[in-house]
Amino acid sequence: MPTILRGAPIAARLRLGIETSIAELLARGGARPTLVTILVGRNPAAEAYRDAIERTFRRVDIDHRPRSLPTETSAGDLADELHRLNLAPDVTGVLVLMPLPPHLSSHVVLETLSPLKDVDGITPTNAGRLHLGLPSLRPSTPQGGLEIVDHYGIDLRGLHAVVIGRSNVVGRPLATMLTHRHATVTLCHRQTRDLASHTRRADVVATATGVPGLLHGDMASPGAIVLDFGISVVADRLVGDADPASLDHVAALTPVPGGIGPVTTLVLARNTIAAGFAALSGNLDHVDLATPHLEVPYDEPTPSHA
Ligand SMILES: NC(=O)c1ccc[n+]([C@@H]2O[C@H](COP(=O)([O-])OP(=O)(O)OC[C@H]3O[C@@H](n4cnc5c(N)ncnc54)[C@H](OP(=O)(O)O)[C@@H]3O)[C@@H](O)[C@H]2O)c1
Repeated sequence: MPTILRGAPIAARLRLGIETSIAELLARGGARPTLVTILVGRNPAAEAYRDAIERTFRRVDIDHRPRSLPTETSAGDLADELHRLNLAPDVTGVLVLMPLPPHLSSHVVLETLSPLKDVDGITPTNAGRLHLGLPSLRPSTPQGGLEIVDHYGIDLRGLHAVVIGRSNVVGRPLATMLTHRHATVTLCHRQTRDLASHTRRADVVATATGVPGLLHGDMASPGAIVLDFGISVVADRLVGDADPASLDHVAALTPVPGGIGPVTTLVLARNTIAAGFAALSGNLDHVDLATPHLEVPYDEPTPSHA
């Protein structure tokens, strides 16, 4: 039977760090950490995520202000709302919940949101800085997955990791983070031919598609570590991308619910505080240095000629 990589033990440690960091931020004259989430229209998975943020933030005493905009919101209206929040001194972080309705491109958010308030690390500045290994606000979901990996002592160095999903918030930054940890990464998506031929060869399979049951038993080798980032609502139940019943031969598996999800919301809380530090300095240069106890150490790649 696989080891179940639960998020709960990590959550306790993260909550402690968050408490210390809020005190430190306030002592330095920062604003109370406050996150505004924006939901445009209706989406069950996004609403479940927003509810989880609400529960977590209440527990760690960070202000969460959920804002709902009508489905027919125009790109201009969304941009105006973001401009307003960029300037609001009492708001340290802003998260626009995905997916947006089909008529709205996420580019509006990427191009309008201030990088200093971009708690999910999606703006070009944060994404570029992550790519280059510079201090940045990192996407909370892939970072949540890495917190689990670290907690359970999984050394990614040299492992073959297959990531399914290439979105800007989960799959793509996860692939970058895994390469920073010296894994060998294959990034798969809907156009990938013979997905199973990739996943079967993987030491780590990380799936972030939102397709329930996509990853089933004959797609993972015995000994594989399965990181399930997927969250879907099926018959009022939260389920992941993996079909756990058929994966009892793998080495380890994150459950849904109770795996990466609860860690993600705490990483988001942590990012909301880190954004408070960024607001104080006016840049991202010390977003890690100002909160050293918040950071997973970045492992500088060793140049091959060293
Ligand atoms: N754990 C958390 O806290 C958390 C936070 C945020 C999101 N999520 C969940 O993570 C999942 C992914 O979210 P997202 O925002 O990244 O979704 P997304 O923007 O819809 O991206 C989904 C990705 O999966 C790929 N994909 C879809 N079906 C596939 C298939 N049959 N085979 C291979 N690849 C496939 C897509 O490929 P193409 O690029 O080719 O279309 C795309 O790259 C969702 O379930 C979401 O609810 C979880």
